Amino acid sequence: MAEVLVLFTHPRPDRSEVNRPLYEIARNVEGVTAVDLYGEYPDFDINIDREQGRLMAHDVIIFQHPLYWYSAPALLKEWQDLVLEHGFAYGLHGTALQGKVLLNAVSTGARPADYSQTGVNRAELRSLLAPFEKTADLCDMRYLAPFALFGAGRALEEDRLQEHRKAYDDLLKALVADRFDLDKAAAAAVLNDVLDACITSGETH
Ligand SMILES: Cc1cc2nc3c(=O)[nH]c(=O)nc-3n(C[C@H](O)[C@H](O)[C@H](O)COP(=O)(O)O)c2cc1C
Repeated sequence: MAEVLVLFTHPRPDRSEVNRPLYEIARNVEGVTAVDLYGEYPDFDINIDREQGRLMAHDVIIFQHPLYWYSAPALLKEWQDLVLEHGFAYGLHGTALQGKVLLNAVSTGARPADYSQTGVNRAELRSLLAPFEKTADLCDMRYLAPFALFGAGRALEEDRLQEHRKAYDDLLKALVADRFDLDKAAAAAVLNDVLDACITSGETH
């Protein structure tokens, strides 16, 4: 069994169509600790010891957020700046996160075709999330492909939300049960494309 930590980061959850219900799913999966970062730290006054303790107590860390300006909402950046300290997360004696798994669970306003070399963004989502992947590398963590809902603004009317919620539930349960092929998930561009293939019948560790 793996301990899974979901750090939900949304500055306006009252207006969230996608991430708020996903957070509710995470709260209801046994073995998942779901934290509403803006709810806990509305003034950005992050408790570093508590956050580092949370990281140490979990095997899989999920940054769950809408894509804002090709990145995460501001509080997650503040969290990274303060919590991932030298000597804790990286550096000679900074080994606390070694071997843990990191992934982004994101929603984007733009469509899948926009996140390609030939689309308006001229880059794939995973390459735009490079600062997270490089952070994972520096901290000796395993970075998985992002779990993503594209075209989030139209997902409800196009009836795509339900399927995405089910996929998130499946993902979280498989991670908790250690029934997840991390190698396959790390190699993908977008986790959703390979999700079923990553979920295995027996424990993977
Ligand atoms: C401040 C802000 C910045 C945004 N930046 C991007 C962006 O860079 N790329 C993108 O595809 N969508 C962007 N969006 C759209 C959001 O990603 C989208 O509204 C969100 O994923 C919907 O999730 P929610 O219903 O949980 O809020 C942005 C939205 C806001 C409010």
